[in-house]
Amino acid sequence: TRVVVLISGGGSNLAALLTASDDPAYGVEIVGVGADRHSAAGLALAGDRGIPTFVERVGDHAERVDFDRALTAQVAALEPDLVVSAGFLKLVGADFLAAFEGRYLNTHNSLLPAFPGMQAPADALAHGVKIAGATLFVVDEGVDAGPILAQTAVPVLDDDDLDTLTERIKVAERAQLVEVVGRLAREGWRVEGRRVLIG
Ligand code: GRF
Repeated sequence: TRVVVLISGGGSNLAALLTASDDPAYGVEIVGVGADRHSAAGLALAGDRGIPTFVERVGDHAERVDFDRALTAQVAALEPDLVVSAGFLKLVGADFLAAFEGRYLNTHNSLLPAFPGMQAPADALAHGVKIAGATLFVVDEGVDAGPILAQTAVPVLDDDDLDTLTERIKVAERAQLVEVVGRLAREGWRVEGRRVLIG
């Protein structure tokens, strides 16, 4: 199963997928990695392995729709079966969603629908919830709103600060991403309304 990963940052989720994909039995070939900024440190992880990378920046396009079309073309050229946003900080538009309908996943660092958006661990702490976690979902036109594939819960401890909670969530998030992407690759999936059925 050909997988393209989109990133904006350090790429720890990407690193976990790359390591898993070293085993042919995992069933995933990472065929390309894209970013919306040259500073995305995860790009080097792919480059070191000889995996094609690209950068598509919003600021290089006159209109947002042009960025969306360029991103769609970059990803489509890699002929992926599955596209994974792993800390990719740009919302994609209609062209992208149409091209990869039901095949574009995002991992988010909260138990959706609680705490969508960019500050989810901080929001969880501020709200005082006792359980936080990570959600893997199929992206639709909403923000952090699509059909949910998997969720993993972690406790919020009394002495947590933003760093400790963020890291606990990220550990669970990586494990979940690796497990579920592998299952999707090996078993297939289909989206039926709000539900995603694996196998
Ligand atoms: C993940 O926790 C993701 O949920 C959040 O940003 C983080 C990306 O981390 N939006 P990394 O770049 O994969 O290390």
